[in-house]
Parts: sequence; C-alpha cells; structure tokens
Amino acid sequence: MRALLLDGSGRDGFTSAMCASCSEALEDSGWGAEVVRLCDLDLRHCTGCSACLEGGECVIGDGMRGVMDSFEGCDLLVLACPIRFSGPSSILKAAMDRFQPYWRRGRARGGFSAAMVCGGGPRPDFSPSVRMFRAFSITVGLEWAGCLEVPGTDGMAPADAGPPAREFGLGLAGIAARGPAGGIV
Ligand SMILES: Cc1cc2nc3c(=O)[nH]c(=O)nc-3n(C[C@H](O)[C@H](O)[C@H](O)COP(=O)(O)O)c2cc1C
Repeated sequence: MRALLLDGSGRDGFTSAMCASCSEALEDSGWGAEVVRLCDLDLRHCTGCSACLEGGECVIGDGMRGVMDSFEGCDLLVLACPIRFSGPSSILKAAMDRFQPYWRRGRARGGFSAAMVCGGGPRPDFSPSVRMFRAFSITVGLEWAGCLEVPGTDGMAPADAGPPAREFGLGLAGIAARGPAGGIV
C-alpha cells in the first residue's frame, strides 16, 4: 500500500512535522509513503482551459506532472496544510485545483483520502477547509477517511504536532485492513 502526502505549507514548520510523523507511522505499518513539499515545486494555477476534459490530461507541463504520477500509484492521499483565513493554504488549493482531470474520469478510481490541518489560534475554524477536502475527495474518486485538526500552534513548537500526527497515521494505516467505508474520524 502506498500513501502520497501533500505538504501545503510554505515553510518547514508544523505541517512538515505532521507530514513527517504521519508518513513515519505509515511506514512503520508497512506502507510506502511519499511526502511532496508543494512549495518546492514549479506549480502553476489551473486556468480552467478545459483541455483535460477533452483529452483527460492537464496540458500544463510543470511540477504537477510528478505529483500526478505519484497520485496514480497511491492508495491514500493525505492533504496537509496550515489554515489561512479559515481556509486551506493557497499552495495546497492551487494543487487541488489541478486535479480537475479527475472531475470527469476519477469517480471510480478507488482509494482513500484524509487531511491534516493546523491553525495558530486557540479555536481555529477548520470546518470550511474540511468541507472542501471532503468535496474534493468525492470528486476525484477517493473515500474520505477523516481529518486531523491541530489548533493552538502559535503556542507550540512544530515537534508538538508530531505525536497526534503519528497516532493519526497509525489509524490511517488500518483503513486498508478495514477496506471501503472503514474511515476514521
Ligand atoms: C496568512 C496567514 C493566515 C492565517 N490564518 C489563520 C487562521 O485563520 N486561523 C488560525 O488559527 N491560524 C491562522 N494562521 C496561523 C497558521 O495557521 C499557523 O501559524 C500554522 O501553524 C502555520 O503552519 P506551518 O508552520 O505549517 O506553516 C495564519 C497564518 C498566516 C501566515
């Protein structure tokens, strides 16, 4: 089983710590796990040209090509980001928009998706992001397996986000055994 984790932060902080711990937990459970730091890629915006709806592929030749190759081979996609103004980071959202080819062809793809979000405030509103992640998952043909929400990061060190992310990763690893409709919350 393979997992692809998309790190949608712009720096090496809480999101990166969550991705590292989650991927380590998946690997400890026998999974292969790849973390992609989206901010390191040449990543352009979806223009809405609709070429992908005709030909099935995105015509933009940038860093998303490699992400799509990894996505094709994965059983679990994990979207990870800090929330920004109560939504997902624009880095992650730009990558999500580039999954538009799956709007038409992806519903029968199979596999799972999950998310990890962090926010600096004591009570961040994660719900707009989680709603978006769930809708995205349905659209690209993945079964939603749940979201880890880490609030209060302004008073924490990035390493503090590791233990909950590890526990979340161990839970995600179990979805393979439980199969479809076996997500965690
Ligand atoms: C532009 C911007 C907007 C933010 N908006 C929110 C917000 O709406 N709610 C919140 O709790 N934290 C907000 N934060 C704080 C980040 O979510 C928080 O610092 C997070 O831990 C950063 O994660 P990172 O270390 O992975 O980049 C914002 C930070 C930035 C830079």
